[in-house]
Amino acid sequence: MTSTIDIQIEKIKKSRVSEQDINDVPFGKCFADHMLVAEYADGKWQNAKIMPYGDVPMSYAMSALHYGQAIFEGMKAYKNDKGEVSIFRAQDNFKRLNKSAVRMAMPEVPEDLFMNGLIELLRLDSAWVPTSDLGSLYIRPFLISTDEAIGVKISDTYKFVIICCPAGKYYSEPIKVLVETNYYRAVRGGVGFVKAAGNYGRSLYPTKLAQQKGYQQVIWTDSETQQYFEESGTMNVMFVIGDTLITPGLSDTILDGVTRSSVLALARDWGMKVEERKVSIKEVFEAIEKGTLKEAFGCGTAATIAQIIGIGHNGKDYALPPVSERKFSPKVDETLRAIRKGRLEDKHHWMMKVPA
Ligand SMILES: Cc1ncc(COP(=O)(O)O)c(C=O)c1O
Repeated sequence: MTSTIDIQIEKIKKSRVSEQDINDVPFGKCFADHMLVAEYADGKWQNAKIMPYGDVPMSYAMSALHYGQAIFEGMKAYKNDKGEVSIFRAQDNFKRLNKSAVRMAMPEVPEDLFMNGLIELLRLDSAWVPTSDLGSLYIRPFLISTDEAIGVKISDTYKFVIICCPAGKYYSEPIKVLVETNYYRAVRGGVGFVKAAGNYGRSLYPTKLAQQKGYQQVIWTDSETQQYFEESGTMNVMFVIGDTLITPGLSDTILDGVTRSSVLALARDWGMKVEERKVSIKEVFEAIEKGTLKEAFGCGTAATIAQIIGIGHNGKDYALPPVSERKFSPKVDETLRAIRKGRLEDKHHWMMKVPA
């Protein structure tokens, strides 16, 4: 898709960056100085602008609020030891945004609007990229329908927006997860493979129930048989059984995670056996009982690698090997961090440099 859309820039008068310690802020609550906003109307993208972050006037009839034509992405920028900023696998997030757009009957975002907008925004807000070892600037591109109309139909107008917030570590401790067999994140033929806002709204109630029982997250199972693991919360899930890295294969109920694909690439680089296929609850619990399950973890942009140290199912809690005994996931976590921080060669060309 081509576009030659101009991006207007209105800079903030005085940066807010010194008002907080960006190396120590709660996730997702503190926003960088600028945002990108572009409009889609009359069949074309227009009025692209980078402007000071802030509220916008909106109609309560806006269609995204009622019928959920709303999709988003999550990606991160990092600062290396020389103070240079790079974005991790931006092209993959761009492609996935447009995959979501197609599924949700929304207009695709032109590549130059996404990429040039992203780069200009990060140039302006580079001071917001944390320098700490675990810090990053979380980037949230999203697309919403904006027709002022109550009536279920494909909207004629949209807004594409990018906002950013400094981020540190997402989970401070390894997590315990509950196998969820009553509620489903995604169903066959649905929208689980894309980042539609409704996928997240529907997950909150079952997650709350699991948290009330003392778990941090759920592991979703398939809606047809409840026998196979799908994802954990908003992360892809992986297991090391024996010497093999195993993760559910992609389907229309599983998000094609950028972190998932990076972890698999590193495992393959290191000559590890990798299997992308259905992973049954039975197989995992048998491996726990036999002592062949070495590691379980979730992976995603926000959390990076979240170690799973306990799994609850049918009233029973299964303890997993302590993190100190795990070899693969700590190494993968460290390697990803080193690549992102520019301390290790970026063999896969995952980092896109933001010009100063
Ligand atoms: C449902 C779901 N699964 C998996 C992931 C991990 O994907 P990624 O590694 O691209 O962040 C996410 C987060 O984006 C998610 O929301």
